[in-house]
Amino acid sequence: MKILVLHGPNLNLLGKREPDKYGLKTLDGINQELEGLAKNLGVEIEIFQSNSEGSLVDKIQEAAGKFDGILINPAAYTHTSIAIRDAISGINLPCVEVHLSNIHSREEFRHHSYIAHVCVGQISGFGEDSYKLGLTALVNYLADNLS
Ligand code: DQA
Repeated sequence: MKILVLHGPNLNLLGKREPDKYGLKTLDGINQELEGLAKNLGVEIEIFQSNSEGSLVDKIQEAAGKFDGILINPAAYTHTSIAIRDAISGINLPCVEVHLSNIHSREEFRHHSYIAHVCVGQISGFGEDSYKLGLTALVNYLADNLS
């Protein structure tokens, strides 16, 4: 089983960026934890971060036929990007949306996700554990739904 992990804009700044909201762990630290979890779950992951909407859309399009599912933190594009939403719905791969912070308890503009409708589910508010919970949930979902 192969999972594509996507990190959206500004997540490369984790560790330095608003640590009260996003914690002190760097993106490299989160990625290492995910690699360890993937190993334990017996799945392969590829990780990609971009600050650019188009690069994320390209990566999603290229995932068709290469990956079984996508774990994505679309960051600010969650609240703005119909292009990322259309890319996900266009490739027909199960996708799980994750957020470090609880987007529903923050500013009103963060409450709406363009991405959630085209995902199996959303996990929000558990810091780096959101990623780990998301990966576990996606792998369980795929195990139940892949023939
Ligand atoms: C975020 C929440 C978004 O609203 C924000 O724009 C981010 C990070 C999170 O992981 O909590 O960049 O996706």
